[in-house]
Amino acid sequence: MHPMSEPYEIAPELPKPRLPGEVVVREEVADLIDAITADLLVQAKACVRSFGDFHLALSGGSTPEPLYRRLMYDPRMRGFPWKKTHLWQVDERCVHEDDDLRNWTMIAGLLLEHSDIPPEQAHPMPVLEADGDERYEQELREALEWREKGHDRLDYVLLGMGTDLHTASLFPGSMALDARAGRLVVFNDGPGVVPPKRMTLTFEMLNASRFLGVMVTGEGKREAVARLARGGLDTASAPVRGVQPVGGVLRWYLDGGACPAGG
Ligand code: 6PG
Repeated sequence: MHPMSEPYEIAPELPKPRLPGEVVVREEVADLIDAITADLLVQAKACVRSFGDFHLALSGGSTPEPLYRRLMYDPRMRGFPWKKTHLWQVDERCVHEDDDLRNWTMIAGLLLEHSDIPPEQAHPMPVLEADGDERYEQELREALEWREKGHDRLDYVLLGMGTDLHTASLFPGSMALDARAGRLVVFNDGPGVVPPKRMTLTFEMLNASRFLGVMVTGEGKREAVARLARGGLDTASAPVRGVQPVGGVLRWYLDGGACPAGG
């Protein structure tokens, strides 16, 4: 057969670091975003079909910004069920609403303003309220409680990872790592926490999720990924190790830059 008649080239498999869960590697961030958006669409449609809605929790940080942008302009995402989507936060900085440090400003600016998510399905963390953690917990419970037992959980959670191996606002040695059983959302402050004070979903809430994606890109994260792949770390020093879904999928999304040589 003439080589020109091949419909597409099969890209060689990139070496995958040994991380807990499934690992997706794409050399370029744009291709990695293709993989994430495809997963998101499949999950969203399946959940809407089964439960009538889709509960999505998003992280802040700089890594997911191009992904959020893409969700809005990629023609393949036109069928995304935004009207049936609830948008939650993984974590937030306890700063005033106008502060640029607010994750919600970025998430709302990129997604809410350009999709048709009904306003009552947008759930910013009430970080300035003294009992904001309990209120958010209550909001989550109420939004999910009508689902059948076992399905009352977040459907897709997008996490990032810091070079210190924190995820969400669960920092090494910080108090939120030891949140009491039954707590789904807590404030995190004091030793270990990179200021300002944060609000964060707990491991209990994260690990109950149906699907946890961890997006890590760029050479700046390569050493951290290598440390994690070498193993032998505990949750206290490497909180991302505490991400262990009970009955859900854990899928890492890495670009070539974040991948240590030799996998
Ligand atoms: C945040 C996060 C946090 C983030 C990592 C990675 O609000 O900052 O939710 O856990 O995902 O710190 O951040 P970058 O993507 O900016 O590297």
